[in-house]
Amino acid sequence: MKSIGLDTSGKMIVKGPQKASGVLTVSGSKNAVLPIMGASLLTDEDVELKNVPDLADVRTMIEILESSGKKIDRIEDRLIIKSSGYINSEIPYEPVRKMRASFNVYGPLTLRKGFAKVALPGGCSIGARPVDFHLDGLRRLGIESTIEHGFVTSKLTDIMGSINISLPFPSVGATEHVLTTACLLEGVKTTITNCAIEPEVTDLVNFLNRMGAKIFGAGSSILKIEGVKKLSGISYNIIPDRIEAGTYIILGKLAGENLTIKNVSADHLNSLFSIFENIGSPILYDDIKREVTVTKANFDILKNISMETSPFPGFPTDLQPQITTFLSLVPGRSTITETVFKSRFYHIDELNRMGAKIRVEDNTAIIEGVNKLSGAPVEATDLRAAAALLIAGLVAEGETVITNVDHIFRGYENIHEKLENVGIDLVYLK
Ligand code: UD1
Repeated sequence: MKSIGLDTSGKMIVKGPQKASGVLTVSGSKNAVLPIMGASLLTDEDVELKNVPDLADVRTMIEILESSGKKIDRIEDRLIIKSSGYINSEIPYEPVRKMRASFNVYGPLTLRKGFAKVALPGGCSIGARPVDFHLDGLRRLGIESTIEHGFVTSKLTDIMGSINISLPFPSVGATEHVLTTACLLEGVKTTITNCAIEPEVTDLVNFLNRMGAKIFGAGSSILKIEGVKKLSGISYNIIPDRIEAGTYIILGKLAGENLTIKNVSADHLNSLFSIFENIGSPILYDDIKREVTVTKANFDILKNISMETSPFPGFPTDLQPQITTFLSLVPGRSTITETVFKSRFYHIDELNRMGAKIRVEDNTAIIEGVNKLSGAPVEATDLRAAAALLIAGLVAEGETVITNVDHIFRGYENIHEKLENVGIDLVYLK
């Protein structure tokens, strides 16, 4: 299972312990921009996106949109997405293999073309990630799917009236896929219940409404959508990346010396702020400057904690590996139960190789705090595991060599340069 990792290359070498001091600025949100880029397929007019991070996943989505008939220019942090007058609705395996979010073009392409053929996303190194909720929801919207030879092929049937879709779990991807598709079903009123309420879903809703969609209930677990005939082009600013911000805050609590993190939306990170409050090292947020300044916590006085990941507003699964690194140094026994991706624990063996004392029972990591980590060769199995190992390497004594580190560029824009700017000495080898 562990060997299914993608983008298996690149090495980072860090010698710890190190201090991070200065200013780090958080980029635009990966998980917000990807579905928004996919939703640009709903219009032939120009869409301008601002605050777009330069990430491997964004480049993969650019590739998909270009193969679907869009022309895209990147000017610094802006993307200008134009139509080239044709739509191709067949997406091959390669981009979907690299990035599961690619699958969310399936519904929009079916509506635009009447038919689509998109590779089915496979397994991945954080656990099983099926698309059954997506396909069930789309079927209710009149999109019949057939799975054959690893591809899903759609046929659009006529539907009218009111449709109720209740998601079995508040899946981020399924909520986004179904709501985006429902926007362009003229004459159809869709109600989706048990929706994901992650800030990235709300950003997508705001984007679509600005394009002329009629979606009601932004930020709540019930969304009502009145399908419209046409959506228009717009210019839109993407929200900051809360997972990048959270990762740098955790890094600051481990190795910061007045490390200022700018472009932070505290509303999106309440669960992380509460954890630090509860363990005895609160985070001070400047809501005018939208920034936090973090210094290494005093580990001698920290309290252990039992916590779990859960859908927003709960603690994000995408920060679980990074907070595990932190808790591995907190005195006493802490536990983290993973309720979103129940087997997302591949980073634990690697942290243990660095001297952490963690064992996994079912979907819970039981962490016995140690007083130091030691550098070791380790392997990153996915994007957030790579981040967890990098911050572990910064505080561990001696040299840590992280292989397969390129996963990190899927979610952290210029991370090596950003860290170098706050005084971190690291070597990246392609
Ligand atoms: C998105 C995020 C990812 C984050 C995750 C959970 C993007 C691009 N990625 O992934 O970074 O870790 O939300 O916050 O936004 N499930 C099913 N059937 C489905 C869909 C999901 O069983 O059809 C299950 C999954 O296996 C998982 C859970 O639902 O156990 C949550 O997954 P989901 O919220 O869909 O995650 P993604 O949208 O893939």
